[in-house]
Amino acid sequence: MKFIFVLIYMKFRRPKGTKDILPADIYKWHFVENTIGEVMQIYDYSEIRTPTFEFTELFIRGVGKETDIVGKEMYTFTDKSGESVTLRPEGTAPVMRAYLENSLYNEKSLHRLYYIANMFRYEKPQSGRYREHTQFGAEIIGSESIYTDVELILLARDIYQRCGIDNFKLKINSIGKAEDRKRYCAVLKEYLGKYVNDLSEDSKRRIEKNPMRILDSKDPGDIKITQECPKILDYISDESRNRFESLCAMLRENNIDHDIDFRLVRGLDYYTDTTFEFVSDLLGAQNAIGGGGRYDLLAEQLGGKTTPSVGFASGLERLISVAEKNGFKFSANKPPFIYLVALGDEAVNKAFLLMQDLRNSQISSTMDFNGKSMKSQLRHANKLNVNYVFIIGDEELSKERGILKNMNDSTQCEIEFAKLKDHLLSENKKSKSSSQGI
Ligand code: HAM
Repeated sequence: MKFIFVLIYMKFRRPKGTKDILPADIYKWHFVENTIGEVMQIYDYSEIRTPTFEFTELFIRGVGKETDIVGKEMYTFTDKSGESVTLRPEGTAPVMRAYLENSLYNEKSLHRLYYIANMFRYEKPQSGRYREHTQFGAEIIGSESIYTDVELILLARDIYQRCGIDNFKLKINSIGKAEDRKRYCAVLKEYLGKYVNDLSEDSKRRIEKNPMRILDSKDPGDIKITQECPKILDYISDESRNRFESLCAMLRENNIDHDIDFRLVRGLDYYTDTTFEFVSDLLGAQNAIGGGGRYDLLAEQLGGKTTPSVGFASGLERLISVAEKNGFKFSANKPPFIYLVALGDEAVNKAFLLMQDLRNSQISSTMDFNGKSMKSQLRHANKLNVNYVFIIGDEELSKERGILKNMNDSTQCEIEFAKLKDHLLSENKKSKSSSQGI
């Protein structure tokens, strides 16, 4: 019988690669989201929210047809009017679309924008890799200054550090401009052609259309072959190389440790010049906490004027996972201030009226509606870590007074129903500095 029940009960499961964030864990998310909001405000970034789905063409144009994201991972469907739409796999193309469509360039020349949003990628789920994940991202649109690259890296570092993450590595590279990459790809293809039989199957497929992606293959054979391959930094223009050298000097000046990594080509076609990634050894194969770079030509690719820009995004699941592994103590959400314990229908009714009155005065309150025993209600109140319980039984009803128990020092007293709210408000005032507050 129990087995049949479990089978029926288990009929609906969440789709592979998705997750539930349960009440017991939500405080970690609230902490991180609040931290992001606070830091963004300090750095003068404004929040932008774009739709969960966009016309598919935006990602084909913006992210690139040959990328894994567009080629293999998009959740694309035709809607009832025959339009092809896609659940957003990333946030940069939608933000640029919104910037251009709403003519934000008319407001000011430099925009600092941020978002916290869910992203959808049909990838093979594994630890740290989901089909729906949440990113926070920041974009500076409208400036080619090196300060913008540095500011974003400092911003990301600040958020990670406030979440107890100091043990990351910053990898940085320059992939130049489109013409540089064309030249480099030809040289790289020629080099890889000599080893084609030894490359992994995935890399063999990439050699024609996207040879640079072979550089970030995790296959040990591919890694060995590419160790001595030509490096892109030797093929970018003088202008790009000078920019990259100035950037590295500025990072040193700002005490930002970084490793130059010739393999860091990133998987999205819109990047130009700077690419960077924050990685953590605590994450296993999916080791990027965040990544980004410049995308000076994206606005043009989407039909706008040339608008130099730079940005990065970070997965909240991975960020929280590293913070947890570091033993970071996320500050918990406040429990309710008071639990009303009621026994019997009439007492429940009275408690409900009192509870609503307390809530109307901003006093967080809760109670049970399922006719639990007094003992069980008290146990629950204790588990919730409330400051007070207020007990109403038949005797208390007849006297119009309840028993108020302070759960911190276990003292108790009788309080008239009509005086409960004022009493709690004045108690809270007295103990504001030490208690968890209302
Ligand atoms: P991305 O590197 O594809 O960049 O993703 C950014 C971050 O999102 C990754 O570093 C990782 O932390 C997280 N992430 C990506 N895919 C998954 C997944 N399947 N499961 C869990 N976490 C994941 C972008 O999306 C660019 N739009 C970043 C950017 C902003 N570049 C310029 N501006």
